[in-house]
Amino acid sequence: MSESNQIVFFDTTLRDGEQSPGCTMHPAEKLRFAHQLAELGVDIIEAGFPIASSGDFESVRTIASEVEGARIAALARAKPVDIEIAARAVAPAKLARIHTFLSSSDIHLEHQMKMSRNQALDLAGESVRQARTFVDDVEFSPMDATRTDHGFLAAMVAVAIEAGATTINIPDTVGFITPAEYMAIFRMLRELPGAEKIIFSTHCHDDLGLATANTLAGIEGGARQVEVAVNGIGERAGNAALEEVAAALLVRQDVLPYKSNIVHKKLYPTSALLSEILGLQVAPNKAIVGKNAFSHESGIHQHGVLSNPLTYEIMTPASVGVTATTIVLGKHSGRKALEHRFIELGHALSKNELEKAYTRFTELADRKKAIYDEDLIGLLRAPSVEV
Ligand code: KIV
Ligand code: ZN
Repeated sequence: MSESNQIVFFDTTLRDGEQSPGCTMHPAEKLRFAHQLAELGVDIIEAGFPIASSGDFESVRTIASEVEGARIAALARAKPVDIEIAARAVAPAKLARIHTFLSSSDIHLEHQMKMSRNQALDLAGESVRQARTFVDDVEFSPMDATRTDHGFLAAMVAVAIEAGATTINIPDTVGFITPAEYMAIFRMLRELPGAEKIIFSTHCHDDLGLATANTLAGIEGGARQVEVAVNGIGERAGNAALEEVAAALLVRQDVLPYKSNIVHKKLYPTSALLSEILGLQVAPNKAIVGKNAFSHESGIHQHGVLSNPLTYEIMTPASVGVTATTIVLGKHSGRKALEHRFIELGHALSKNELEKAYTRFTELADRKKAIYDEDLIGLLRAPSVEV
């Protein structure tokens, strides 16, 4: 395992993300978004699952031909035909990867794959060896790794390393693991023979809302690649959100001293582009990119932020590409915020005028959820406030 402090960002918005309901994209949309991911500084773009459809094959091939600045990966089950098609799809890329996966947990092997552990070990080795005949960069994922018996997980990873895998991904396929457990799995796998030349990778689903925490724990356990998706889209509750992991590494350098190639100012524009393409807004309270992430409505917070934004913001909006802090006027707002907004609207109120306007404002805010600038101007026109 390399001791580097460089974190490789592997984006799976166009593969795992696209697999979630309401998130399918046309080839032209996938291409447009892949260009944006390259500008964002993502190291590897998982462009799709070429065996899934001829449309996805074409998407991956077009992205591999046209997008520069990132390695292009394609997903393949541990099946010769999948691997061959994935290899054809990524062939035009300057830097290509085949990502092949096979279930490792007993529940998957018994009920889905109908395969014994020994058969799975053989197939894992054969698949990685086949993929290596096409590309020298092969990622292997034991699917449902976090619900797999540790001894068997180590055995499957050892087979994949021996067969020539260059990256080993440990998917928390069903979003089940906790941070301490996830960290311990990486620490255990790093002891395997040959592990020192492998990049270990996180892949966390958010079923328990732990995807970002687990990703960071994986890094502390020795993972140096993170598999993430913009806006956290992905199967069921989604994947670890790229913007959350990137911002955590930016803001908490004191305890997470790692580097990446992410251009943080492009985080919000990338999130906004994905929302536009999918026609799917992120939740207002979504970390980093939600509408409320840099908005303040309560009087105490507004007072603090207007004096010094660091009182209630742990990063500047500009650092992640958000235009500005928003002071939202509502029933929890105080005089400071109201005075500030009036000044922005060109009205410097005297103490007395502000007091009167504030009384009317709180009455209005009790009745109305959103207060617009026109409402504020209306307050000034009311007979009791003369400006
Ligand atoms: O969640 C998962 O297990 C996956 C694999 C295909 C890596 O997405
Ligand atoms: Zn996944």
